[in-house]
Formats: sequence, C-alpha cells, structure tokens
Amino acid sequence: MSHTSTSVDAAHFQYLAARTDPDDAFLIELKAAAIKEGIPAIQVAPEQISLLAILLKLIGAEQVVEVGTLAGYSAIGMARALPDDARLLSIEFSPKHAAFARAWVAKSDVAEIVEVVEGSGQDVLPSLPDNSIDAVFLDADKAGYPAYLEEAMRFVRPGGLIMADNAFAFGQLFDENPSDPEVGAVKTFNDFIPTIQGLKAVIVPIGDGLWVGVKE
Ligand code: DHB
Ligand code: MG
Repeated sequence: MSHTSTSVDAAHFQYLAARTDPDDAFLIELKAAAIKEGIPAIQVAPEQISLLAILLKLIGAEQVVEVGTLAGYSAIGMARALPDDARLLSIEFSPKHAAFARAWVAKSDVAEIVEVVEGSGQDVLPSLPDNSIDAVFLDADKAGYPAYLEEAMRFVRPGGLIMADNAFAFGQLFDENPSDPEVGAVKTFNDFIPTIQGLKAVIVPIGDGLWVGVKE
C-alpha cells in the first residue's frame, strides 16, 4: 500500500480528547443528573460533539434531526453550533428519557432550538418532507439504522450530512462472542452503508466510531 495509516490506540484517543473542548458545567451537571435517574451513561464523546459541531457549521445547517435523544447531551451540543432560528428535532423512544431530555433542554441555552419528540424513528421520520433537512444524526436502536438511513436519503437535501454513532460496536466489533446484543446489527449497518448509491461516507475513528456521510 502506498498510503500511511497510524494505528489509533487508547493513548491517541486520550491525546486528542485532551485537545478538544471539554464539557461545560451545564453538560457535566446534565450527565450527573442522568446517572442519578438511572439513564445509561452512553452519550457520545465530547470530541464527537466537536466534530458534529464543526460539520454542522461548515454546511450552514439550520434544520437538523437526531434519532435517539437519550438524555439530550448530543442534541444540546449540536444545537449550540446552529444559528438562533435553527431547529433541531430529536426523536426519543423511551418516555422516561424524553421527559428527562425535555427538562434539561428547557433550562439550556438552546431551548428555543431543540424539540424533543417522543416516538420511534419509524413513526416520525416518514413525516419529514423530501430534501427538507440539512443533517441527520443516528444514535438509536442499531437494528433500526438501515431503515432510518433509507428515510434519511429521502429527507436530507443534496449536500446534507448523514451521520451515525457506534460504527465500532461499543468496542466489540471484532469480538467472536460479543456480550452486547446489538453488535450484529451494527455490523449489518456498516456493510449496508457502502452499498447506498448517492452517499459518500467514511467511519471517523473518534468516540465509538462515527459514520460521516454526505448525500450527493
Ligand atoms: C451503547 C453506546 C452507544 O453510543 C449507543 O448509542 C448505544 C449503546 C453501549 O455502550 O451500550
Ligand atoms: Mg451511540
């Protein structure tokens, strides 16, 4: 091979994380409150927020959709990269998680931008008009990703972003007997993305692996 690749290990992750904006006091408080409520601490990494924010700014995103709100951490992080009149619709299946996220969005600096909608991606995404969304971020049930992606190819505008978390399957991508039941679904999705016509995508190895794609 004529190209050079540096194998990224835990030290590299630590190195880049130390050079990325850390969570502010509000997001630290949100994460602590989520743990107290028994919400799993499976948010994206701060360096993923930084990349998402940069990409959203680059394309001038104003209409953003997230599938999988969890506690609202990534929705708030992404919304901070958007202009004041932007809209970020975040879809959450768990009523408990949706209620928690709504409460924290309400007291955040992006309360006017973020709307948390309770439901499944399957129910909500079909209601979005064709070519109406600048960017979508998938971070929900992994078995649902292929269907969400197919919908996204319809409702995201040309030149828009399609991003998805957990390409590295919670660190279990190469485990022969993974403990997490969603590993198979992640692998299926990882093999599905390259078959999609009109999507240029690559896995960026930060956090648990972030798919970043542009709809052509
Ligand atoms: C897990 C992590 C995630 O980022 C996610 O979206 C779902 C599950 C996990 O570690 O189990
Ligand atoms: Mg995730």
